[in-house]
Amino acid sequence: DATAHPSFDGHQQVDFRVDPVSGLRSIIAIHDTTLGPALGGCRMWPYANDMDALDDVLRLSRGMTYKNALAGLPLGGGKAVIIADPKTDKSRALFEAFGDHVDSLGGRYITAEDVGITDADMEIVAGRTPHVRGIRATGLGDPSPFTAWGVFCAMRTAVGFALERASLAGLTVAVQGLGHVGGRVAALAHADGARLIVADIDQARVDEVVARNGATSVPVDRIHAVTADVFAPCALGGGLNETTVPQVRAGIVCGAANNQLRTPQDGASLMRRGILYAPDYLVNAGGVISIAPERPGMTADEMKSRIARIGDTLGLVLSRAKMQDLPPEVVADRMAEERIAAARRDRSA
Ligand code: NAI
Repeated sequence: DATAHPSFDGHQQVDFRVDPVSGLRSIIAIHDTTLGPALGGCRMWPYANDMDALDDVLRLSRGMTYKNALAGLPLGGGKAVIIADPKTDKSRALFEAFGDHVDSLGGRYITAEDVGITDADMEIVAGRTPHVRGIRATGLGDPSPFTAWGVFCAMRTAVGFALERASLAGLTVAVQGLGHVGGRVAALAHADGARLIVADIDQARVDEVVARNGATSVPVDRIHAVTADVFAPCALGGGLNETTVPQVRAGIVCGAANNQLRTPQDGASLMRRGILYAPDYLVNAGGVISIAPERPGMTADEMKSRIARIGDTLGLVLSRAKMQDLPPEVVADRMAEERIAAARRDRSA
């Protein structure tokens, strides 16, 4: 009985596709379309079983509803997963079949790249359905620079709020993970006058940032615990947990990684310790804003000013969190829910 699955709570539609010819096995989950069609990436992953894939797509699609709502986008939340190994199972037929799956939902779900999917894969999908965003042909290309810009704008707001600083000049920013997003966050912070402390499991990336931005490097198991004004998690999720939170010495946590808090208790612990946590899905929305079809033909500069609104929204979240004595991530969730509820009321009025 699928409806007994606890995470089905609130989802509008979950669609399974099995195509024996191409070998496609995909699930598209549409969580909520109150604000508009459900936008969310497609992940390709060799899940151990179908239940793990279902869990993942339900959790991720729900997250997209909150992310898109708080970003002020006219979009709902959805997500897709392809149950297969991106290293061995890719074929043109498979992505064509996935394109047909997306198209069968008539635009209620709009897909994009996520873990395991490349531009080339999505080009094939786009040959079968118009409901694709974020590929070079349809917009501004790689969303990572826009994600990094949003993180930087949020960081500016956070230091204004907590330290009454107008910029990062003279402050220390510790960046964990120097990939597509983290490397650019480091460069933006450096250009704004910050001192950098960095770590990455990939030594070449560390060397590059040290050479380019004069950063100090530390081992990966120490970066969360260094003395800094801002800690920016830009690697993988779950980095803030019962082991690491008590060791954080920065007064602000603001970074790009998804699902930074392993549990809600970790957010409460940060608050108890007086550490300002900038909610991850608000901070890292620059990428999804850049692929959202709000105003086709927007230039990169116009897009950057649109994304700068992440900083304004964070300001609202932090003020309200302080007033109500609540963790910022709880306030962010409530604000997203309020936007959806207001749209629902308008619609039924
Ligand atoms: P990426 O794969 O380019 O970079 C991740 C970096 O973290 C790599 O350099 C990797 O070597 C490093 N890393 C992995 N484990 C580490 C560890 N334990 N300690 C230190 N470094 C470690 O990924 P990308 O695109 O930069 O994304 C970073 C985070 O931001 C991810 O959590 C992603 O989900 C999130 N995000 C990315 C967006 C985008 O536009 N690329 C949009 C929204 C969220």
